[in-house]
Amino acid sequence: MESPSRGGVFSEGTDSRVEQFAESISFDRRLYHQDIRGSKAHAQMLAGQGLISDEECEAICQALEEIRGELDSGSMPMRFELEDIHMHIEQALIDRLGDVGRKLHTARSRNDQVSTDFRMWVREALEQTDQLLAEVQRAFLGRCEKDFDVVLPAYTHLQRAQPVLAPHYWLAYIEKFQRDRERIADCIQRVNQSSLGVAAVAGTSLPIDRHRTAGELGFAGITRNSLDTSSDRDFVLESAFVLSVIATHLSGWAEEWILWSTVEFGFIQCPHAFCTGSSIMPQKVNPDVLELTRGKAARVMGNLQTLMILTKGLPLAYNRDLQEDKPPLFDSFDTIQICLQLAAPLVAGAELQRERIAAQIEEGYLDATTLMEHMIAAGMPQRRAHHLVGAIVGEAMQRKVTLAELPLDVLQKHAPELDESVRDVLGTRNAIEAFTSEGSTAPARVRSQIQYWTERLSASE
Ligand code: ARG
Repeated sequence: MESPSRGGVFSEGTDSRVEQFAESISFDRRLYHQDIRGSKAHAQMLAGQGLISDEECEAICQALEEIRGELDSGSMPMRFELEDIHMHIEQALIDRLGDVGRKLHTARSRNDQVSTDFRMWVREALEQTDQLLAEVQRAFLGRCEKDFDVVLPAYTHLQRAQPVLAPHYWLAYIEKFQRDRERIADCIQRVNQSSLGVAAVAGTSLPIDRHRTAGELGFAGITRNSLDTSSDRDFVLESAFVLSVIATHLSGWAEEWILWSTVEFGFIQCPHAFCTGSSIMPQKVNPDVLELTRGKAARVMGNLQTLMILTKGLPLAYNRDLQEDKPPLFDSFDTIQICLQLAAPLVAGAELQRERIAAQIEEGYLDATTLMEHMIAAGMPQRRAHHLVGAIVGEAMQRKVTLAELPLDVLQKHAPELDESVRDVLGTRNAIEAFTSEGSTAPARVRSQIQYWTERLSASE
């Protein structure tokens, strides 16, 4: 059977190896709902413009629904000679309707068809990803109350730095995922423009109505320049980038919790349903889901790289290279979505090892900054206070005590201006209370942040 796209100009059939090489049905069949929806909207527009009759439109739309049923049930065979999902559906239509089916492709090219279908698919996948991010945010938010009284070390350079409330950590991840959601919303604005009607590259001489199909397909508007649109895959690149940033956030979180679940840290216990054992070491409980979340970030970033390289250096407009845009983006969405689906229950189900954390929280001089700031507040220049506290920490290290355990006369030996009021900023609890600036970890600040996110993440978002 001759492919609908091979006209009389061809002097021989396609080499079967080329058919195998060039097919995309094996992956673009994922677009079939979008293709059928787009084709129905196109047929209705053609009828509205008098390019086909209402009866023809009716027959086409009905046949397209039957074809959807065949695709749903998996009964439509994949035929490499029909190349892609668009030709499979069109051929099935022609098989049913003959010449009426042959009218559907009026004023349309696969170039604008592919772009329109993919935009619809990406739009939905971005919206789903947004909802999955919201679930992970809610999982972190859900921990804030029960972990409110736990003090954890904050690290810089992976060295103990200052004390923070556990919910300050959870809120930090909520912020990161919020920015991801904002990037998604921004990206959707450009994804959500209809390509349909730019046809192959220059538009069409037939009297189509692009606004009508755009409206029918839920697009916010239509793209402006047919030459640009035929070639444009920015929406694919942007989506792959947004997903890569999510991967970065997930990977960083995973790495942190992998460290935290070691004996060396001993801060957290992941739910056993999200861990695996070892075939030779019976004592092992390995955080494989976290490790794979970290590992899978590599392929998501690799997919972005693939897409950047795929699209660089392409002359205007559509080039067949663009067919290769789908597997990497499908893979990035699949990967990120499963990571997010697993992250939410893992976050909700993990247990902080409170005793272990408390037993070592006074190690590492986490209150050195608040001691220094206590001296600054009393009028001492910062550089001098920094130097003196360094010396005080040195002495405490020698004596193997915490800053709070140093007698006042030892503190005064270094800084005579100190008095008993220094006790108010020593010890991690006091230090936490002392960090009162906006965005800081003071309990009142953290409380108001929890309040803020509780309102924002209520069911409506
Ligand atoms: N399978 C192709 C793709 O996915 C369809 C577009 C083909 N267009 C063309 N002019 N050959 O990109």
